[in-house]
Amino acid sequence: MRLRLFVGLVAMGLAAVATPGLSGCSREASATPPARRTPSRAVSFQNEVQPIFSKRCIACHSPGAFEDGTAMGGLVLASGRSHAQLVGYKSLESKLPRVAPGDLEQSYLHHKLRGTFMKVGGIGVKMPLAGEIPEDEILLIEDWILGGAKID
Ligand code: HEC
Repeated sequence: MRLRLFVGLVAMGLAAVATPGLSGCSREASATPPARRTPSRAVSFQNEVQPIFSKRCIACHSPGAFEDGTAMGGLVLASGRSHAQLVGYKSLESKLPRVAPGDLEQSYLHHKLRGTFMKVGGIGVKMPLAGEIPEDEILLIEDWILGGAKID
């Protein structure tokens, strides 16, 4: 009885895979779009990226934000310190650097903002932990990474 049920389920599964309409559709719906590889424009770190961190992140990502005196996540995003804490700096939650210049897939910051950090062995929650960040600001941070994560 159990075996017959199992065989039946396998057959149904095969039928679904064999039906082009069905499988094609579900696969497209669940696929994540490939990460972008080129920036849509040049972005200034000081004038465009840092203001986003200063507005949306430093309440938690500053020394003293955490009760033991450190910044939350061990990450300081305050002006003057953020670039060195991000670019080429290994994240504390995964094997990836926080920012790998020119490479979104290898940048943990990108995964924390997009909510895909589990896929790269990360932990915790999507950033920002409180408040929100609009899509155009995430795209801007991604453009900065894709453009080489410079400190201009
Ligand atoms: C309300 C507090 C809070 C805010 C606001 C916040 N964060 Fe965080 N962040 C945390 C905490 C707590 C952690 C560690 C736990 C976790 O990852 O969920 C963390 C972890 C991180 C990490 C992982 C650091 C590492 O080395 O692995 C990144 C990257 C990050 N935050 C980026 C941001 C950015 C960018 C913003 C602003 C857009 C932001 N966070 C806003 C609290 C916050």
